Amino acid sequence: MSEFPISWVRESFPALNSQENFVFFDNGAGAQVPQVVLDAVQHHLLTCNVQRGGRYRQSQEVDAAIQRAGQSVATFLNAREPEEVVFGMNATSFIRIVSLALADTLGDRKEIVVSDMDHEANVATWLALQRHGVEILWWRMRPDGCLHLDDLEPVLSSRTRLVACTAASNALGSIVDIKEVARMVHAVGAELFLDAVHYAPHGSIDVQELDCDYLVCSGYKIFAPHMGFLWGKRPALEALPTFREDFIPDQIPAKIEVGTFVYENVAGMDAAITYLENLGIRTSTNGPPPSRRAALLSAMDSIREYELRLSTEVLKLLSQIDGVTVYGIGESGVVPGRVPTFCFNLRDVNPAAVTVALAAKGIGVRDGNMYSPRLLERLGIPSETGAIRASLVHYNTVSEIGRFAEELRTIARG
Ligand SMILES: Cc1ncc(COP(=O)(O)O)c(C=O)c1O
Repeated sequence: MSEFPISWVRESFPALNSQENFVFFDNGAGAQVPQVVLDAVQHHLLTCNVQRGGRYRQSQEVDAAIQRAGQSVATFLNAREPEEVVFGMNATSFIRIVSLALADTLGDRKEIVVSDMDHEANVATWLALQRHGVEILWWRMRPDGCLHLDDLEPVLSSRTRLVACTAASNALGSIVDIKEVARMVHAVGAELFLDAVHYAPHGSIDVQELDCDYLVCSGYKIFAPHMGFLWGKRPALEALPTFREDFIPDQIPAKIEVGTFVYENVAGMDAAITYLENLGIRTSTNGPPPSRRAALLSAMDSIREYELRLSTEVLKLLSQIDGVTVYGIGESGVVPGRVPTFCFNLRDVNPAAVTVALAAKGIGVRDGNMYSPRLLERLGIPSETGAIRASLVHYNTVSEIGRFAEELRTIARG
């Protein structure tokens, strides 16, 4: 693997090059966008800001842009075909659309398994199906901050319709062994709904290899503007009884896309994938990558490797600060089990006071429940105060981690 091109990466993101020199450690809530994304959104708004389906140049350009973006996302996910990619507003609305459709197709399988490690978007949406006769079973996270396959086994049966779980915890960073989850879920004849929102900026995704049935992502977590996409296996999406107006064809992806979505942000999503491809060309060690998919794999593998170094550094520095408790995977020996998202508390200091003090020093981190209140409860963290989360991505640096740790040490000293 070649040296990670961090200077090129940082130069690509205008927000990282402002005078302010702000440290963006709240990427779990949304990442910055590279210039190519800004250019694509601007180009769309300036040259073809019209509705699809018209017989004039601008409208045909919108159709072409959406088609291109579908192909790009399909390549990013290694989907079998671009029609399996559906664009929309955000991950939550897609979870809701799929869950409501599944509620109409339960048959004898009335059980849905959810986890208490997940973002509430992938919990509450399924719990809402209880009024449709669904019975919820819980895949419980252990105190180590991980979902263990041994705990999934007992809640699966011939009554299971679906398991909904995340690929990585948005609060703790713990990664789930999705390939094995899919094998277990399919062994009982059920389906797997994967929330890839938090995992997607940190490593490669191959839906064919993972063998999940549905997957959601949010563009704004993967260096694109606010939008979301759903992927599903063609037969699964085709079988969904979704709402659609009479004039919408009963075909994927149209039958799942409710109304008009944000075309300029879909163009931005396409450009974010181009940015990742360009990164992959730079990180490729054996000459130019032979395909777009190969370039994306090169990018995501090098991001993963670089971020493992960031994780090791964060854990090392946090362990040197008196009074810090890291929740979840806290030892540097096991960093491959996590993405660089760190949830912690400082003894006798209110989490909000820590994030306010860091903000005053130009460092953005988050406090609260990270929209995973059940996870906090499971770890015995008081919900009124919550915890602190620093969530890094590949444009962050060891030097930023040093600045963050230094300020934290000052706060800890009181
Ligand atoms: C893991 C995870 N799932 C789902 C969501 C909800 O995504 P959206 O805002 O696109 O609905 C988030 C948002 O932070 C998340 O982190």
